[in-house]
Amino acid sequence: MKLANKVALITGAGAGMGLAAALMFAGEGAAVAAVDINQSSAAETASRIAARGGRAAGIRADVSMAADIKEMFARTVKEFGRLDIVYNNAAIIEEQTQLSEFDDDDFDRVIAVNLRGVYLGMKYALPHLIAAGGGSIINTGSIAGFTSFRGTPAYTAAKAGVVALTKVAGLQWAKYNIRVNAICPGPVFTPMAEGIHRRMTGRQLRPNSKMPMSASGRMAMPEEIARVALFLASDDSSYINATPITVDGGC
Ligand SMILES: NC(=O)c1ccc[n+]([C@@H]2O[C@H](COP(=O)([O-])OP(=O)(O)OC[C@H]3O[C@@H](n4cnc5c(N)ncnc54)[C@H](O)[C@@H]3O)[C@@H](O)[C@H]2O)c1
Repeated sequence: MKLANKVALITGAGAGMGLAAALMFAGEGAAVAAVDINQSSAAETASRIAARGGRAAGIRADVSMAADIKEMFARTVKEFGRLDIVYNNAAIIEEQTQLSEFDDDDFDRVIAVNLRGVYLGMKYALPHLIAAGGGSIINTGSIAGFTSFRGTPAYTAAKAGVVALTKVAGLQWAKYNIRVNAICPGPVFTPMAEGIHRRMTGRQLRPNSKMPMSASGRMAMPEEIARVALFLASDDSSYINATPITVDGGC
């Protein structure tokens, strides 16, 4: 078991990559705080873990709110006694929009969830990770933050910011035995990708749908990202810090 006796908190754990990571981390022995803005999906993830004999708590939090973030860490430590791994994975994406026509409030909301949420998720994790003697923080970027997409200005800017924040925190907190890395996925078969696909094409996305933008011609499945998260969460990646890791099949 790669995460025996560890406690992991995962945001956006009610669906997609966060759900896949929650199940995988628990299967590797971690107690998991499954956090989501959607209370029922957080609870559902926790009960799926419990049904497999694992330890989990479903916690509702909006990652853009500092009070929610502080509370989710406090509840996790109260329930499981410590905190070792934080996976700041939750995010939203705007509809494809020209920058010139973008609604200002929508811009603020995407930045608040996708960038401020990661900032808060690192900042308020710090005292708990120091108390545990160190740990691993994993943030979710996107290839959008490197290559840019024409239609999603706030999402793209936030994801570039996540990589920058990851590097700063990784350098500042190495002295505490805390590693901070980012996963930057390409297209992954999740509810987020399904929503984008449906809006753009009017058709339902399928796991085997062709991805012309991907060199491999396919999307990743969420478990293919979760395996990288597990690697970054575990001591297998003990000398990897302040690094964005692209997982995109060679897009
Ligand atoms: N799916 C892709 O193709 C893709 C590609 C690159 C990067 N990403 C990134 O990967 C991460 C996971 O994406 P996904 O595709 O699994 O998304 P998803 O939409 O399928 O799931 C995201 C989860 O986050 C939760 N959430 C949304 N806003 C929240 C908030 N304010 N506070 C707490 N929880 C919130 C949702 O309720 C949902 O359960 C995101 O950071 C996303 O930007 C996704």
